[in-house]
Amino acid sequence: MTTAAQRIAALRAELDQHNHRYYVLDQPSIPDAEYDRLFSALKALEAEHPELITADSPTQRVGGQALAEFGQVRHEVPMLSLGNAFAEDELRDFDRRVREGLGEQLPAGDLFGAGAEVAYVCEPKLDGLAVSLRYEDGVLVRGATRGDGSTGEDITANVRTVRNIPLRLLDSGWPRVLEVRGEVYMSRAGFDALNARALESGGKTFANPRNAAAGSLRQLDPKITASRPLSFCAYGIGQVEGSLPDTQSGILAALKGWGVPISAELQQVQGIEAALAYYRRIGEQRDALPYEIDGVVFKVERLDWQRELGFRAREPRWAIAHKFPAREELTELLDVEFQVGRTGAVTPVARLKPVQVAGVTVSNATLHNMDEVLRLGLMIGDTVIIRRAGDVIPQVVQVVRERRPADARAVHIPEQCPVCGSAVERTQLLKRSKGRAQVSEGAIYRCVGRLRCQAQLKQAIIHFVSRRAMDIDGLGERIVEQLVEAELVQSPADLYTLSFEQVLALEGFAELSSRNLLAAIEASKRPTLARFIYALGIPDVGEETAKRLARALGSLARLDVALPEVLAWLPDIGLEVAHEIHSFFADAHNRTVITQLLARGVLLQEEGELQAEFAACARLAELLARLEIPGVAATGAKRLAAAAGEDLEALIALSQDWLSLKAIKGLTEKAREGLRGFFAVPANTARARAIEAQLRDFGMHWQSERRAVAGLPLAGQTWVLTGTLESMSRDEGKAKLEALGAKVAGSVSAKTHCVVAGPGAGSKLARANELGIAVLDEAGFIARLAELGG
Ligand code: IVH
Repeated sequence: MTTAAQRIAALRAELDQHNHRYYVLDQPSIPDAEYDRLFSALKALEAEHPELITADSPTQRVGGQALAEFGQVRHEVPMLSLGNAFAEDELRDFDRRVREGLGEQLPAGDLFGAGAEVAYVCEPKLDGLAVSLRYEDGVLVRGATRGDGSTGEDITANVRTVRNIPLRLLDSGWPRVLEVRGEVYMSRAGFDALNARALESGGKTFANPRNAAAGSLRQLDPKITASRPLSFCAYGIGQVEGSLPDTQSGILAALKGWGVPISAELQQVQGIEAALAYYRRIGEQRDALPYEIDGVVFKVERLDWQRELGFRAREPRWAIAHKFPAREELTELLDVEFQVGRTGAVTPVARLKPVQVAGVTVSNATLHNMDEVLRLGLMIGDTVIIRRAGDVIPQVVQVVRERRPADARAVHIPEQCPVCGSAVERTQLLKRSKGRAQVSEGAIYRCVGRLRCQAQLKQAIIHFVSRRAMDIDGLGERIVEQLVEAELVQSPADLYTLSFEQVLALEGFAELSSRNLLAAIEASKRPTLARFIYALGIPDVGEETAKRLARALGSLARLDVALPEVLAWLPDIGLEVAHEIHSFFADAHNRTVITQLLARGVLLQEEGELQAEFAACARLAELLARLEIPGVAATGAKRLAAAAGEDLEALIALSQDWLSLKAIKGLTEKAREGLRGFFAVPANTARARAIEAQLRDFGMHWQSERRAVAGLPLAGQTWVLTGTLESMSRDEGKAKLEALGAKVAGSVSAKTHCVVAGPGAGSKLARANELGIAVLDEAGFIARLAELGG
C-alpha cells in the first residue's frame, strides 16, 4: 500500500520529466491532456495533505504571494560582466592576450602553429537578464538578479514560474550546492504574443524582448511573472560545493544532463579564427533564431586556464563578447509627414535625424497609423529609440520621455489630404457580433479624393500595370509619375489613349522606346477576367480573391451588379470584402473608368457561365444567416428554412404569423422576436427579395427546387463518382450531375444508374462490375455531359 507521500513523490518525478521533455528538450512525450490529468491528480493529493506541499512541487510554479519589496542577496562569487569587442582584430588581440597570459602552459605549436591554438567555447549572447539559480541537494532554493554584481535582488518566487527552469534537478551526481548562472529571456514569438495581448486589452506594450523579459521578471507579484512567456538558458556557474567537470563545455553538458537548459548553438572550436567563423555563421542566422541575441561569447574551454588568467577589474580575461552591430539607436524626431497610399490610406511617417543603425543610415521610419502615434505618445522634437532588425523597415519603438524638449509639438492628422486637398476621413469599422452590426472608429484615415488624388492615382496606375495585373512591360514607376504629373493620365483608362507624340515627349524616351511602350500597352488589351478584376485595385481584393470572383461569377457584368450578400455566398469571401467590392462598383467614377477601359479596346478573356458549384449551393438557411437577423444564428436559420419549405415568400408570411412561429420546435423566443421585427420593416423584406431575385438571375436555384427538377435529363437517377478526375474536381463533377437533376451517392447499390470511375477507383468499381452497372471513364463522362448539355 503506497502512502500519500509516496504517490506525491512519484507524481512529481513524472511531471518533472514531462516538463523537461516539453520545455527544455522540446520533445513532449505525452499529450497535453494527459499532463493536465497528472497535474490535477497531484493538486488533489496536495489539497488533501497540505503538510506535504514543498516549494519544488510542480504545482508551485503558478506564483505565490505578492511581495512588498524584494529581499537582497549577496553573491558569494561576484556576478561579473564581459568585455566587448566589435572588430575582428580586437578579437585577435584578445586571443593574443590569452596566449601570452598562459605563456609556458600553452604547448608549443608545430611548424604551422597548430596545437598552439586555444580551445574556445562559443555560444550566442542572449539579450535578456542575468540571473543566478541556487540549488541545494538538487532543489532550487533561490533565484537572484545580478544587481551590482555583488548584491542582487531575491526573485525566487518569480524564477520558479519560468517553465524551463527545473525546480529539482534531474538524475543525480550534482554538487551539494550548485549555483547556475544564465540568462532569462523572452522568445520573439512570446514577445509578439504578449504585445498583441497588451494592445488588445489596452495595456502597456514593451519596446523589445529584453525590456519585456526584465519587466516581467522584476514583478513583485509572481502571478504576473507566471503569465509571461519567459525562458532560461544557462551559460555558467557561480558558487559550487562539490565536484564538477574541469572544462566549460563539460560543465554545460553536466547541467544539461540535470535538466538545466543550455544553448542549442553551443560549439567548441580550436583557435580564434574558428571562433570568428562561428561569429559570422551565427550572424547570418541571427534573424532566423527564435530569440534575440546581441552577439556571441567566446570562453576559454579549460577551467584551470580560466583560473590562471583570472580577472582584470570586473571582467574575466578568459572570456569576451563579440557583439553584432546594434539594432537600436537614439535619434531625434524632426517631423511627422503623411503619405497617401493606393487605397487612400493616409499614414504617418517619421522623419528622423539621420543615424547609423546596424550599418545603414536611417532617416525615415514607419509609424503605421495614428493609433501607433498615440500608443507611443510621440511628439515632434522627441528623442526616440529606433530599431532596424534584419530586412524589416525601421521602426520607432519608444519615446525617451526624459529628453522631451519644452517646445515639442503634438502630431495631428491633417484634415485635408496633403497631396490633393480632399477631405481626410477616419475609416469606420463594421464589427458584427451576435447578428448586430456595430460601427466603431478604425485606425486608418483615408483621403476621399480617389483617382483625383495624384498620390492615389500614381499608386493605382503602378498597380494596374504591374506584372500580375495588366502586365504592361516597360511602364515603371518613374514613367507613371511623369505621366501623372504631366496630366496625360488621369485614370488607368487614359493609358489606352496615349499617342506616340505624347510618349516621345517624356523624359528618356526616343522613337524606338516610345513605340515599344505603346506596343506593350496595346498587348495588354486582352486580360483574363481575373487579372482585370485584380488590376482594378478594389480594396482588399488580392490576386486570389480576384481569381475566385472571376471563376465563380464568370462575368464582369455579374460582378458589377452583385449584392454584397450574394458575393458573400462564395467560399472565402467575407461580408467585409463583399461590401468593399459592392461599393467600388457603386462609385460613379469607378464605373466611368471601367466603361472607358472597355470602350478603348480592353476585351476580357475567359468570361463564362456561373460556376456550377456556385449555382447549386443556395439554401434558404444561408440567405437567412446572411441577413443577420437579430437572434437568428445558424441553427435557427435551418429550422426556419425547413419550416418554410425553403421558400422565401412562405418565410416572410410565416414571420408575421405568431402562432405558426411558436409551433416551430426549438426556435427561441429571441429568434421569433427577431424575425418578426426584421420582416416588419419593408426595406428588409425588399432586400431579402432582391437577393433572392439576383441569385435566380445568376442562375442559382434553391436546393429544394433542385430536388423537384422533374424535367431535367437525369432526374430520378443516382450516380456515383469514384477515383480521381483530371479535368475537374469530384465536387465539380457532382455539381454538374446535380445540375442535370441526378442524385450523387457515396456508395454503389442495385439502385445506382451509373458509376464514373477515374484512375485509382477500387471497391466501388468492383461492386459496379459485380452488379452489372454502367461504368464511364472520364472521357465518356465528359462526352455524356456534353450530350446532355451539362
Ligand atoms: S558569461 C564572467 N555568457 O551578458 C562571465 N554572459 O555582458 C559572465 N550574457 O551579464 C557572463 N549570454 O547577462 C555570458 N553566453 C553568455 C551570455 C552572457 C548573455 C549576458 C549576461 C552578462 C552579460 C555580460
